[in-house]
Amino acid sequence: MFTCKMPGTVCAGENALNALGTLCGGARKAAVFSDRGIQASGALALPLKKLEEAGIDYTLLCDLPAEPTCDQAQTVVDAFRAVDAQVIVAVGGGSVMDIAKLCSIASGEGVTVRALLEDPGKGRKAVRTVMIPTTAGTGAEATPNAIVAVPEKELKVGIVCQEMIPDAVILDGEMIRRLPLKIAASTGIDALCHAIECYTSKKATPFSDLYAMEALKLIFANLEPACLDSEALESKNAMLMAAYYAGVAITCSGTTAVHALSYPLGGKYHIPHGVANAMLLMPVMRFNLPCCQAHFARVYDALGHKGAESEAEKAAWLLERMEQMVKRLDIPTDLKQYGVPKEDLPGLVKAGMEVQRLLGNNLRTVTAEDAREIYAGLLG
Ligand SMILES: NC(=O)c1ccc[n+]([C@@H]2O[C@H](COP(=O)([O-])OP(=O)(O)OC[C@H]3O[C@@H](n4cnc5c(N)ncnc54)[C@H](O)[C@@H]3O)[C@@H](O)[C@H]2O)c1
Ligand SMILES: [Zn+2]
Repeated sequence: MFTCKMPGTVCAGENALNALGTLCGGARKAAVFSDRGIQASGALALPLKKLEEAGIDYTLLCDLPAEPTCDQAQTVVDAFRAVDAQVIVAVGGGSVMDIAKLCSIASGEGVTVRALLEDPGKGRKAVRTVMIPTTAGTGAEATPNAIVAVPEKELKVGIVCQEMIPDAVILDGEMIRRLPLKIAASTGIDALCHAIECYTSKKATPFSDLYAMEALKLIFANLEPACLDSEALESKNAMLMAAYYAGVAITCSGTTAVHALSYPLGGKYHIPHGVANAMLLMPVMRFNLPCCQAHFARVYDALGHKGAESEAEKAAWLLERMEQMVKRLDIPTDLKQYGVPKEDLPGLVKAGMEVQRLLGNNLRTVTAEDAREIYAGLLG
């Protein structure tokens, strides 16, 4: 059996934000979650205006941390408990959306974020959620996952609970119009990783294949213009769709070794999620080639390219094109500039190998020796 779970309503494209009032589902009061960077960019103003036009009162919880630890997320859960709101409107990237999703299921007696880390099944949806992504992106608006750093483990950990699938989503290119290039680039590569990992995952299904492939088509055509041209609103809308589709693919399937090995880079060295994935994308794809050549060739065909004939040629073209995207967008591809010493290699390997939830999805088995080689390549 294959299952495909998705948010209840998704509004996308030009003026999609006009639906915000309706999507609040009759709520009198909203808790609006965001962060200082988004507020400073001006991206928060439009959703707030739409709430005001709809006559919905709101409380702002607006200093949410980026890439939260479980304890930072708990602080927001506590603050949210003091707000009498019937809907959470999350205006942000994965960090804001993940915290909002945790708040929506952590209102019961004794249900803390740390308790959810132990047993995600404890979560019960107690408040409606509307997600407005401002990066394109994590796809967190589509998934039942929330990712938090666990400091004592020096790892990021995914909490997976179906009750966290959002009730409604708004994908409006206006929200990413002023996204700084660096963030647009690394979050776009994160979406690419979600799509290609889900497509090549051991857990892939016909549903995840459909969404992952559509995401890949949109990303290959739109990532660069969406990042490099501030006026390319069509490409920005396409990237928001792609990130959402890739999020649906994650829900149906699962990411693999790129995400598994990137968790310690976020957890220990605080490297942004998209950057960590961008570093690992090519080493892992090359490692996976012997088992994924046919998958890569199918993506080549779906992109409509001509010229390459054999499966091997098609797969090689695809890997080259992915590498070119990472280079053109000027995303860091090694750990040197993050000051990670070579002596940390054994610790990295140990932490990475703990993420068996995702390593187990990789078509080619990743041994500790393989992980060592991949990380060693990043340390130069
Ligand atoms: N739940 C999931 O399914 C899922 C999937 C992948 C990643 N994640 C998690 O999401 C988090 C990363 O999210 P992210 O990559 O979207 O970045 P983010 O939410 O951490 O935001 C990064 C920075 O970008 C700024 N920013 C965001 N939108 C902006 C805008 N429109 N204009 C100007 N600045 C803006 C923020 O202020 C912040 O400083 C990580 O914690 C990661 O582990 C979750
Ligand atoms: Zn990701």
